[in-house]
Amino acid sequence: MTEKRLPLSSSELKAFAEYVGTPFHIYDGPAIRKNAEDMKKAFSWADGFINYFAVKALPNVNILRLLASLGFGADCSSLPELKLAKEAGIPSERIMFSSNDTPDEEFMEAFRMGAIINLDDISFIDDVIRVCGKLPETISFRYNPGKERTGNAIIGNPSEAKYGVTHSQLAECYRRAKENGVKHFMLHTMVASNELNEDYIVETARMLFSLVDEIKRECGIAIEQVDLGGGIGIPYRPDDTAISFSSLGNRIHELYVEMIEKKGLAPLRISFECGRCITGPFGYLVSKVLHVCHKYKDFVGLDASMADLMRPALYGAYHHITVLGKENKGNDHIYDVTGSLCENNDKFAIDRPLPEIDKGDIIVIHDTGAHGHSMGFNYNAKLRHAEYLIDSDGIYMIRRAETYDDYIRTQLSEPKKL
Ligand code: LLP
Repeated sequence: MTEKRLPLSSSELKAFAEYVGTPFHIYDGPAIRKNAEDMKKAFSWADGFINYFAVKALPNVNILRLLASLGFGADCSSLPELKLAKEAGIPSERIMFSSNDTPDEEFMEAFRMGAIINLDDISFIDDVIRVCGKLPETISFRYNPGKERTGNAIIGNPSEAKYGVTHSQLAECYRRAKENGVKHFMLHTMVASNELNEDYIVETARMLFSLVDEIKRECGIAIEQVDLGGGIGIPYRPDDTAISFSSLGNRIHELYVEMIEKKGLAPLRISFECGRCITGPFGYLVSKVLHVCHKYKDFVGLDASMADLMRPALYGAYHHITVLGKENKGNDHIYDVTGSLCENNDKFAIDRPLPEIDKGDIIVIHDTGAHGHSMGFNYNAKLRHAEYLIDSDGIYMIRRAETYDDYIRTQLSEPKKL
């Protein structure tokens, strides 16, 4: 069970919403900090442990700075994300470039800035050599275990997934990297998304530790770091249970002693590139009820839409909803909670038991701190909304709302003939 907390008291959040206007995303800075510290502590046994925060989860420079001040790095999947990580002042050696289907210019820029390049395919070795003239001194390969592991609905089964190099390609990848001057080798995988089963993450560590042994025996190459990717889940539903960092850290430590230290494969650094479990539970989408309509079903229409949070529409994902000021009323009404897009799947919840809702109520949609605002879009010319960060000394605006002028800026009212 997980208690669905608010980042401020219900009345404070309501007053703030009235003051700044809805909708907006708001993040709980002190809670993010504590959570990040908990993760670090759980892996403090691992020398050089780092979480490269997945920028795609919450690409705001202020959040990246906050996490960087705690020693986190950045996992980037595109050139703009690399630039954002730089903008946040994250040193190159703490930037991981985990991309796929990568354009040449992105390899070039990642190489130029000295980020760690994580190759998603064996053919990318030649691409990097062609584009950058050589391979960097440090290289990582993303491993796809195929049928050996199962994935889940969001990321798919590994054998069907577009990501990573296969088991039979792995040794050749490292051999070719070595032949081409690479000095430091890393191994990465990312096999599940929003995984709440601790055993699954432990099995991922076991799989990578065993590959470290295999690569040493087959190619004589010592892997210096394994990256377990992102994918640690969060309890979106009140009856879900969060993964405990300390229990996970202890279990991976036990495996490390058995499979790495005792086999003479140490030192081996451990890293993750988690986004969701770092900021996800500490973000909230706050929105106002514009309409309550009674048709064949009862609908609550918000001033936010799936352009602000597309997870429910895209994955059928559950996001908990609190109606401010009505926390103690019974959930004795059933509603579809919708946005205003001309898309019938623009729904935050379907058949959700909630207290009776009135026009003007303020609704909080929970767990939007990762893959929330970042997955937003502009369909129906919806403008992107503001983001706020609660810190110990007050609340800061960390992204202003998009204006019509921002929106129209890329359109040419004088068409340019080519
Ligand atoms: N590293 C790589 C290579 C990834 O592809 C991802 C997410 C992460 C790290 C971060 O995963 P996290 O720890 O945040 O789960 N937008 C979806 C999930 C797609 C995830 C894609 N990759 C969602 O809203 O659930």
